[in-house]
Amino acid sequence: MRNVTSDVLVAYASKHGSTEKIAQWIGKEIRGNVDVLNVNNVHNLNYDYIILGTPIYEHEPLPEMSNFITRNRNELENKNKSVFVVSSDNEEKSKREMNIEAFTDIIPGQINQTAVFAGEIDNSELSSNELQSVESYMNSISKLMGSYSKLNEKKCREYGKSLNRFI
Ligand SMILES: Cc1cc2nc3c(=O)[nH]c(=O)nc-3n(C[C@H](O)[C@H](O)[C@H](O)COP(=O)(O)O)c2cc1C
Repeated sequence: MRNVTSDVLVAYASKHGSTEKIAQWIGKEIRGNVDVLNVNNVHNLNYDYIILGTPIYEHEPLPEMSNFITRNRNELENKNKSVFVVSSDNEEKSKREMNIEAFTDIIPGQINQTAVFAGEIDNSELSSNELQSVESYMNSISKLMGSYSKLNEKKCREYGKSLNRFI
């Protein structure tokens, strides 16, 4: 039995909100003093455990997450941590692996656990640049896709619960 409460940070980047929702669900399942923060609002890394989450856009993590990692590389290296990505192209194992590797490749040091979650897109919220980019991306994977939501709260919460064994 541990009698010290751990300080835990769930830091996310999110453009259209799916990753933020998922980060909140994960945060609810973690035992400890939990802060769920957008990476832009993280001012220190004085936490016992860190969970990092980013969506994948055009095969890459969001730049604000990549920049956060670059800025905090040395401190993150020795932290206990887990990571997750949010994406749409999740049906094949190879695609899920490609998406998570796009993130784990830039993370320094060891990672306890990874996860890939499906997100959501509401096409009516996208800028014309984003719509163009999503169209060419859908063409590149030979799929047509309109707005969709594949968010699975239960799966995200289970991942959160599973992290308590590291904390
Ligand atoms: C312009 C654009 C590009 C995207 N590129 C990819 C991609 O390369 N791979 C993928 O699996 N999903 C891709 N997606 C899907 C997003 O990762 C997914 O919608 C995710 O839920 C977005 O997270 P957010 O709502 O937190 O911003 C793309 C979505 C948009 C709108």
